[in-house]
Amino acid sequence: MYDNLFIADHPLIQHKLTLLRDKETGSKEFRELVEEIAMLICYEATRSLPLKEVEIETPVGVARTKVIQGRKMAVVPILRAGLGMVDGVLNLVPAAKVGHIGLYRDPETLRPVEYYCKLPADIPERDVFVVDPMLATGGSAIDAVSTIKKSNPKSIKFMCILAAPEGMKDFCEAHPDVQVYCGAIDERLDDHGYILPGLGDAGDRIFGTR
Ligand code: PRP
Ligand code: URA
Repeated sequence: MYDNLFIADHPLIQHKLTLLRDKETGSKEFRELVEEIAMLICYEATRSLPLKEVEIETPVGVARTKVIQGRKMAVVPILRAGLGMVDGVLNLVPAAKVGHIGLYRDPETLRPVEYYCKLPADIPERDVFVVDPMLATGGSAIDAVSTIKKSNPKSIKFMCILAAPEGMKDFCEAHPDVQVYCGAIDERLDDHGYILPGLGDAGDRIFGTR
């Protein structure tokens, strides 16, 4: 669809996404599913990590084998809902540092409003994963990535669970240098900027605020 878009449609992701969409799924299970899906998407997003050869001693001999080549990484959730994906990424990349970027969508204009940004001091040495379960109009993700780019990270990847086609188009065109990993692209946005059929408000469902 776009050169910088990968749809992570592994059967496990599709199955867990179905459970996530269900309006009967409560906050506890919703949080667990978001974390699990984030871990599975992260597995795909880390597929191209460079390796180097090492020699180690096994109990019975010497093996020439491979380890990941000292890459420094950071995960940056878009608050609030992105927080739900952080532990899934850290499960696979425990040495990653965590930054935070706070944006909320103005309910009238649907435009993102930035209220917080704290990134690791050594961000120019790091490959960054920006995470947010939802990409609707794309405004929040586009602005978050633009802000993070000003700190000159080595690279940026964006991971989301669900997107609307119009928002994904805008994101991929605004940031063609950012590889996107997405669980599924739905039909469209409704008049309030919600993804249809979607899963509702991800932040409210993670934190039980509605
Ligand atoms: C949600 C979601 C994204 C944004 C997506 O956050 O987590 O950040 O909406 O919408 P967009 O693509 O149209 O910008 P929300 O603004 O509801 O804030 P919250 O996570 O604090 O609830
Ligand atoms: N944010 C959400 O949490 N859900 C949507 O459908 C759109 C934006």
